[in-house]
Amino acid sequence: MATNRTFTMIKPGAVKNGHLGAILEHINAGGFKIVSMKYTKLSAEKAGEFYAVHKERPFYGELVEFMSSGPIVAAVLEKENAVAEFRTLIGATNPADAAEGTIRKKFATSIGENAVHGSDSDENAEIESQFHFAGTEIFV
Ligand code: PPS
Repeated sequence: MATNRTFTMIKPGAVKNGHLGAILEHINAGGFKIVSMKYTKLSAEKAGEFYAVHKERPFYGELVEFMSSGPIVAAVLEKENAVAEFRTLIGATNPADAAEGTIRKKFATSIGENAVHGSDSDENAEIESQFHFAGTEIFV
């Protein structure tokens, strides 16, 4: 059964390029409630851990380097059917394939520097939320 929470990171490129406010507005307009949020920076070690599932893929090193290159915003979002709804809001991983009006279509520059992360399953949403936030930092 789908749960009502997902996890996102607004990636270093989008923060650096000044898109943070506009992306948060999209998230808000999409009907998501922010139940936890932090402005932070991942070390290379933490970024490597977060993306460990992609360790064997050729872009892993590049992805880890990019994700630890500058500040990010991490957040837990709430909406009914949150994981699927959020992936619709952000669009396809590769901005070239993303639908018009989606966050990635507007703000992503490449498949690697694709503006935002969105969890791909309820299970991963829970794992990724716990990776960034202690239980007491998630507000109901
Ligand atoms: S998906 O939708 O999760 O199945 O996408 P996937 O293609 O598996 O990509 C997973 C994450 O890897 C990043 N990625 C890349 N980074 C750098 N270079 C290349 N070529 C590349 N291809 C994919 C992509 O941005 C995904 O990051 P997240 O944070 O999950 O969006």
